[in-house]
Amino acid sequence: MKRQEELIEKAKEARRNAYAPYSDFEVGAAVLTRDGNIYKGCNIENSSYGLSICAERAAIFNAVSAGERDLVSVALIADSEVLVTPCGACRQVIFEFNENMDVIMADLSGNACKKSIDELLKKAFSLTK
Ligand code: THU
Repeated sequence: MKRQEELIEKAKEARRNAYAPYSDFEVGAAVLTRDGNIYKGCNIENSSYGLSICAERAAIFNAVSAGERDLVSVALIADSEVLVTPCGACRQVIFEFNENMDVIMADLSGNACKKSIDELLKKAFSLTK
């Protein structure tokens, strides 16, 4: 299986664990590291809405918590008519771990597109420059 398809498949698996009783919008994500490891995440909502976390951040925080910081790409998937794109907060977190990270956006019908985070987040905030 192609790496991109595999990552989308893992994101789909992660989506099964989504906890989204408030929005009913379930999202899954999977992050690929340079070494070829994959970490998954799903959105987890809270009755105090602002405490909710998106699938992409959950996946990235999972990878970083396991000691992985060299992240190559992240896939996200949702059941949406228009391909879901990462929110602004997630874009900044994606950028933190690779300023050129590939972001693969997919739906349940088999549609997908790939964009680099530098295209999705222009003039990102950075303390390293
Ligand atoms: N959400 C994600 O997990 N990732 C995205 O890229 C977009 C939004 C979640 C947050 C919230 O739980 C639900 O989708 C509705 O916004």
